[in-house]
Amino acid sequence: MQIITQKITPFLDQKPGTSGLRKPTFHWQQEHYTESFIQAIFNVLGVRGKTIVIGGDGRYHNDKAIEIIIKMAVAQKAAKLIVAEGGLLTTPAASHLIRFNKADFGIILSASHNPGGKNGDFGIKFNLNAGQPAPESVTEAVFAASKELESYTICETEHLPPLRAGFYDIEDTKMEVVSSTADYADLMEELFDFDKLREFLKTRPLVFDAMHAATGPYALEIFGKRLGLDEKYLINTIPLPDFGAGHPDPQPSYAQDLNAALEQYPEAVLGAASDGDGDRNMVTGQKFFINPCDSLAVIAANSAHIPCLRGLKGIGRTMPTSRAIDVVAKQKGFNCYQTPTGWKFFGNLLNADKIQLCGEESFGTSGNHIREKDGIWAVLCWLSILAAENKTPAEIMQAHWQTYGRHHFNRFDYEGLDKEAASKMITAFGEDMAHRIGSRFDNLTLTHAAQFDYTDPTNGETSRNQGLEIQFGEQARIICRLSGTDTRGATLRIYCEYWQQIGEHEPHLPSTSPTQALATIAHNAMNISERFDMHQPTNIV
Ligand code: G1P
Ligand code: ZN
Repeated sequence: MQIITQKITPFLDQKPGTSGLRKPTFHWQQEHYTESFIQAIFNVLGVRGKTIVIGGDGRYHNDKAIEIIIKMAVAQKAAKLIVAEGGLLTTPAASHLIRFNKADFGIILSASHNPGGKNGDFGIKFNLNAGQPAPESVTEAVFAASKELESYTICETEHLPPLRAGFYDIEDTKMEVVSSTADYADLMEELFDFDKLREFLKTRPLVFDAMHAATGPYALEIFGKRLGLDEKYLINTIPLPDFGAGHPDPQPSYAQDLNAALEQYPEAVLGAASDGDGDRNMVTGQKFFINPCDSLAVIAANSAHIPCLRGLKGIGRTMPTSRAIDVVAKQKGFNCYQTPTGWKFFGNLLNADKIQLCGEESFGTSGNHIREKDGIWAVLCWLSILAAENKTPAEIMQAHWQTYGRHHFNRFDYEGLDKEAASKMITAFGEDMAHRIGSRFDNLTLTHAAQFDYTDPTNGETSRNQGLEIQFGEQARIICRLSGTDTRGATLRIYCEYWQQIGEHEPHLPSTSPTQALATIAHNAMNISERFDMHQPTNIV
């Protein structure tokens, strides 16, 4: 097998964002581009003698990228490659495989919920040996390595083994192709009471929309085969390279198929969907959407019903995620940590056993069984709660609000902005608000306005400027930050939270929706209409 070292001119734009490096697919298809990023990862994490897990969400360019990684790893003498059958692996299953096999690291090919296909996006992320997304210090090191990269090493061959389960030798490297679903499904069976859930699903089924993305085979294996759910309740389970031209993003704007199936099967109590790489989840009752911040709070409040969460002591949430879970933590005596946006910040807290449950407003929830968010796991948590309480999701939610009050929450996105102008606008808004502490806004008193700086309590590493946080005491918050995952222009995210406390009567709430009232304060104060000629957000979640 011929090994070649290819000289290149370094690429200067391989800076990972909130979750790996995401770019339009055609950008990745440039000559040497994918190879450059893989070589930068290898240069930082090492490759000779290492064991590496490889798989992706099946989107367009998945196969090609896997082939490149295998050829480069073999040329650079990796000890062992653990590759998913057909190259298909959800992000949570990849995290589990890394841990289960004590691999050195994993490379996951995914742009998560971004659309795929030739005209969509592609992405690569890499996770360390506890299965956790690489922290900022490592992603920065990879970016630095990519900017100085002058060559990469790859072997030339037309004869790689097929991605079918089995053991293969390629030169000095061993390659094991493993079932995408088996180890992960076994893990779920250990974490939950499958007998109880099987019984429950017999009369109160779940509808699950895999959105033609990576969770399809997992849903069929876990809900279908192992929990006995009739497959008619599992929709869009065939993974497609372009997700059937859909948007693999589980949120109300893309829930048409799920809603139609819920209507078709009125006996279903729970509806759920997962994103491109299976780490996000959306849960809903019949015509009753559950906000992810509320979902996280409900899981914490009912952790006694969830076998793998019975020892819950600490929870984590990202800064923009609503404080619904903080109220639960306070009442139940759980420790509560606030981290910047992105799952990578939970890794160290989970490794140190400071938290056993964590989540973010962007439809992400998980526990300490892996180091990624986990869509199917969250659905199994909800099924466990429903089976124990014998109530509908709407009834569970109403009871929760009765006990803890209700944190109204919405995220208002403005897409396609100029990055520099948007960033300056947020800074100016923050400075203006900082001068107005103590002022009244619609019956709310401004108590805090500053950028969120985070210090990791496990190692003292700091991450500054993680979003502008504007507080009106415990009552309300506005958060502003720019997305770190978009691939075309900048997206401004305005997160608004308003706590309707127990016993509080309607007149206390602003006449429009309370989150809309907060969003209007932010919109006007930043003068978005004039600055960007945008009179409303492009998307409200
Ligand atoms: C978005 C979400 C964030 C999530 C990330 C990866 O990042 O907001 O919570 O961790 O996708 O799934 P953003 O585009 O806001 O940087
Ligand atoms: Zn995802």
